[in-house]
This record gives sequence, C-alpha cells and structure tokens, in this order.
Amino acid sequence: MSSNRSGDPRFSTSLVQSHGISPKVFIITMFIPEQEAWNSKIDFPHHITVPGLSLLFPQVHCVQDYSICHMTTGEGEINASNSMMALLLNPQFDLSRTYFLLNGIGGGEPSRVTTGSVTFAKYAIQVGLMYQIDSRELPVAYKDWPSGYFSYGAKDPFTYPDAVYGTEIYELNEHLRDRAIRAAKKNEASLQSGTPQNILLRNMYDGPGGEPPTVMACDVTTSDNYFFGHRMSDFFMDYTSMVTNNTAYYCSSAQEENGTLESLLRMAKSHRVSFDRIIVMRSISNFVKPPPSVDDSVDFFNNFNKGGFQLALDNLFLGGYPVVEDIVENWDEVYAEGVKCSNYVGDIFGSLGGTPNFGKHNYTIH
Ligand SMILES: *[C@@H]1O[C@H](CO)[C@@H](O)[C@H](O)[C@H]1NC(C)=O
Ligand SMILES: *[C@@H]1O[C@H](CO)[C@@H](O)[C@H](O)[C@H]1NC(C)=O
Ligand SMILES: *[C@@H]1O[C@H](CO)[C@@H](O)[C@H](O)[C@H]1NC(C)=O
Ligand SMILES: *[C@@H]1O[C@H](CO)[C@@H](O)[C@H](O)[C@H]1NC(C)=O
Repeated sequence: MSSNRSGDPRFSTSLVQSHGISPKVFIITMFIPEQEAWNSKIDFPHHITVPGLSLLFPQVHCVQDYSICHMTTGEGEINASNSMMALLLNPQFDLSRTYFLLNGIGGGEPSRVTTGSVTFAKYAIQVGLMYQIDSRELPVAYKDWPSGYFSYGAKDPFTYPDAVYGTEIYELNEHLRDRAIRAAKKNEASLQSGTPQNILLRNMYDGPGGEPPTVMACDVTTSDNYFFGHRMSDFFMDYTSMVTNNTAYYCSSAQEENGTLESLLRMAKSHRVSFDRIIVMRSISNFVKPPPSVDDSVDFFNNFNKGGFQLALDNLFLGGYPVVEDIVENWDEVYAEGVKCSNYVGDIFGSLGGTPNFGKHNYTIH
C-alpha cells in the first residue's frame, strides 16, 4: 500500500503544513542495494516526491507515523550533495530536530578493519581534492613519494596543505557516535560472517583483516576516485592522519560523505538541520588491499571474490537498525533534547563556530 502525501488526510491539517514532516531519524543511503537493505526490512508506506532528488530515486519514503524516513542520494559526491540539498531545502519537511544516519557500504583497510564490520565515524575526510601526477612520471629523485598525490599548496606529499576548499574534513558529535556504537553492539553477536568464500578470503589476512566482523569506531574517506592497492591506501592512511593533525583514524573508503556533509553544514548554518545530529556508518564490503600472499593488486581487484558485498548489506541493517530503534524509542528521554556534544563539530574552517583541533590558522587560498 502506498499513499502520496497530498492524498493523506492527516496532511490537510494546518499543523503539518506549517511544521512539515519531521522524522526523528532520516536514513540516507547511496544506491539500490543499500536502499534494499532497509526497504526489505522496514515498511515505508508513504512516498513523497521531492524535486531535485536523483532521477533514479525521486522520492523520500516514510514509515506509517513518519517517525522514520529514508532517501537514496545516488552515488558519488555530486549526486550525494545535490540530492541532499534538494531534500534539505524542501518545504514539506522540518528537519531541524531530525537525526541523520548516513550509511552505506565501503572499502576496508585490512590493517584496521575486516569485511562485514560495521564502522561509525567521527571524521569524514575528503581525499580526492589534491594535485596528482601519474607516479610513473616521477623522477628518480622522488622515489620516496608514496604515490603521485600531494596536497594543494604543498610541494610534496609529506607536507600539510597550504590551500583547502573547506570540504576536506568534517567532525561529528562524538558522544552521539559512541551512543550509536553502544546501540549497534547489541547486535554485534548476530553480525553475519558471510559465505565460506568470504571467510576464506578473510583468513588470508593478518591482523584485523583476518578477524571476524565487529562494530567499531573509525573514520571514512570520501573520494570520487575509487582507489585500491597498497600505495593508495597507505598514502591515505598517512594523509588522513596528517590533515586532521593526528586525530582521524581512517578505516573505510567511500564516495559520498563529504558531499552530503557539506549540504548538511550549509543548512545547519541557517538552523534547518542540526550538525550535532549526524551519524556516519559504513559497513565493509571489500578489502582495499590484497592479502599478503597475493602480489597482483589489479588481478585481486578485478578477479577475486571481493569479500562481502551481501554480507556488508546484511550487516548494514543489523548494525544500523538498533541505532534507529534507540532514537525512536528514547526520543523523549534523550534525543529530543539532543545528545550532549562536547567535541568540536563542523568543517575545517570552523564555519559553524568553535575551533577545530585540525586545520591551520589561515591558508593561501580559501
Ligand atoms: C547520479 O544522478 C543522475 C541524475 O539524477 C542519475 O541519472 C544517475 O543515475 C546517478 N548516478 C548514480 C551512480 O547514482
Ligand atoms: C570530506 O571530508 C573529509 C574529512 O571530513 C575531508 O578530508 C575531505 O577532503 C572531504 N572531501 C570532500 C570531497 O569534500
Ligand atoms: C595542524 O598541523 C599543521 C601542520 O603542522 C599546523 O600548521 C596547524 O597549526 C595544526 N593545527 C592545529 C589546530 O593544531
Ligand atoms: C597567516 O598566519 C600566519 C601565522 O599564523 C601570519 O603570520 C600571517 O600574517 C597570516 N596571514 C594572513 C593573510 O592572515
């Protein structure tokens, strides 16, 4: 059964017209399999058309009492930020008190995480906004460069950026992240470990990559460039740490957070949303590096069983649902008021006020 908002008698009241649909939690996914991970488990009978959403996903879906809504943005930074902005500007919604659960699958750095793990980020770091030269063209004198990437305004990959666009780093509410982790941990024992093939691949790794899936705190990168291999992941491990002044701990790679977070940040500026009500969750669908026994990263990427696509989707729901439930069930006691935030939240410029413990005083280009 589905009903359009205009056909729903409850929306003829001026109360809703003046205040809009105000879900307690908004689930944001990026593509069809992630959308299905939620739609196959939760019934969303209301379908609301919002101009400006992805042509593939033109509607927002809400549960019967509108306490939970769900939207899919489309993939990549451009689709993610455009769709998010369209949602946040739509007058049918009042999202000023809504919690956002940005969630999807991502690549996993095997020295820090394994496939099927459910990760919650405090930092989202954009790693694509940089200079790049094909590393084969690097003269011999540059043989210690980890890759062909280096920061804007810098002359080498070891130097902190001297120019930023402002979308490179977002820091989120740590207490909210920790509460989400505690909720998700309730389902940790029932996280799937995947097919025998998934397990076999996992067993080829040493360290965290070789362990069973867990719920954990670690950070996510955003890049339209779908990178893989030792050099890129090692470089981004160092880069994320450097650019956040050793505060971020990268474990997963994805393509959207900075796009969606920039839209949320701009709207938080005018109080249409609250930036301390955002949770970023990624479950790991594949390893970004081959195991030690496999030399050829390209062959690994193209031809190996990737590790856990379905597993990551199953665990996305298993890890995410207790978070949604916690928000809805403890709305009056905890969430309506807000989960107290004691760390800095916002971007690299301090656009929402406060001073980040990363970034520089000033840059040559803003
Ligand atoms: C990105 O958005 C465009 C325009 O809405 C859509 O046609 C396309 O399918 C989206 N791409 C992905 C990968 O989501
Ligand atoms: C996304 O955010 C991260 C950290 O929050 C930042 O390092 C990265 O540059 C951002 N990416 C984009 C595309 O804005
Ligand atoms: C972060 O590190 C850079 C480069 O070392 C430094 O210039 C900057 O002041 C540091 N930022 C903070 C907030 O400590
Ligand atoms: C940038 O900061 C440095 C040191 O913090 C200061 O010496 C310089 O004058 C500043 N430049 C501008 C344009 O504000």
